[in-house]
Parts: sequence; structure tokens; C-alpha cells
Amino acid sequence: MELDEMAQRPLSVGVIVGSLRQDSLTKRVARELIAAAPPRLRPRFVEIRDLPLYNEDLDVEVAAEPPAAWARFRAEIRACEAVLFVTPEYNRSVPAPLKNAIDVGSAPHGQNVFRGLPAAIVSASPGRMGAFGANHHLRQSLVFLDMPTMQQPELYIGGSDGLLDENGALSDPSMASRLTTYMERFAAWAACNARMAA
Ligand code: FNR
Repeated sequence: MELDEMAQRPLSVGVIVGSLRQDSLTKRVARELIAAAPPRLRPRFVEIRDLPLYNEDLDVEVAAEPPAAWARFRAEIRACEAVLFVTPEYNRSVPAPLKNAIDVGSAPHGQNVFRGLPAAIVSASPGRMGAFGANHHLRQSLVFLDMPTMQQPELYIGGSDGLLDENGALSDPSMASRLTTYMERFAAWAACNARMAA
């Protein structure tokens, strides 16, 4: 594909949310990020709730197929050109379902579906620190997965329980421009790194 063509067309972005909760605050953040994305990005959620816990035995048995949910998840990530992670923090780290999704996508050995995909991380918490610990633990895994991960701007959203008002609109007017700027910078990052990977 020509570089100019690649720069013009929308990039397919997988959005992975680290919470499985029905009324997840983090998923609200993810929805706002998707709404703030420029037309150059085509974001969509990639589901992780149905992934069985990673067990290498299920990948290496010659006769057996790996679990269908693993195959579905790996195929969806393979079809992405960038990945946006939006995560809460559990015990100062990444929630287990998200870590499991990373492990599933990274295996079996030599078939890491995340490899080379540009990424960004947004973390959110009702607490003040905006899930800083989860954000940086996740960053550590993405280094090993070989995902070029946007460094600036960082986005740690504290007080996520007050993100939206009673009408479902962003309570803090400055947040809209922060989210828009973040997604515009991610679009530029994804286009630049997708081109390098292609
Ligand atoms: C939490 N929570 C939490 N918050 C935080 O800022 N730092 C932390 O280390 C933890 N640890 C933690 C562990 C466990 C097991 C739970 C269930 C919760 C609180 C967490 O941020 C809060 O429940 C969020 O609402 C979770 O995000 P969702 O599910 O609303 O998206």
C-alpha cells in the first residue's frame, strides 16, 4: 500500500476496556474517547469478558483447537491497525481480565498478535491518582509485546465517578478538549507508526 493512501484512509482501532462491570466507569471513559476520535480513526470495542484464563496446554496440544474465544479475540486484534487500552486499577496494577487478554493475544510463542501495533493507554479511577499504577504496569507489558506506545500526552483520569453529570454529559467542560486532543495525538501516532510497521 502506498504511504499517501495509508495516511488518508481511516485506521481501524481496537478499544480494549479493562473492566467487565455492567456499569463500568472506565467503559464510560472509553465511550467518550471514541466519541472524541477524529474521522481518521475508526474505533470499536474488542471484547475480553469471554476469554478463558490463559493456559499454555490449550495452545500446544497438537490435536486440540484453542478455545474459540481466544481465536475470535486474536482474529479481531489481527484486523486492527492500532489499539487503545482503557483501564481501571486493581490493587495498583492491571485488572486480571485485561492481563489475561494480553497473555492470550501474545501467545503461542512467535504468534503475538499485538506485535508492532501502535497503542495508547488511558487509565481511570474514582480515586485521585487516576489509576497511575495500572497505566504503568500495562506500559511494561506493552514494551515486551513490541507495541510502540504513545508517551505524550499521558491521560490519568481521577474522579471517574464524577465524569458525567445527571444528563450523561461531561461534567468538566475542559475534559472534552483534553479527550479530543488526546485522540488527535493518538491518530497522528497511530498513522505514523502504522506506516513504519507496514
Ligand atoms: C479497586 N479499586 C481501586 N482503585 C484505585 O484507584 N486503585 C486500586 O488499586 C484499586 N484497587 C481495587 C481492587 C479491586 C479488587 C476493586 C474491585 C476495586 C477501585 C476501582 O477503581 C473502582 O471499583 C472502579 O470503579 C473500577 O472501575 P470500573 O469497573 O467502574 O470501570
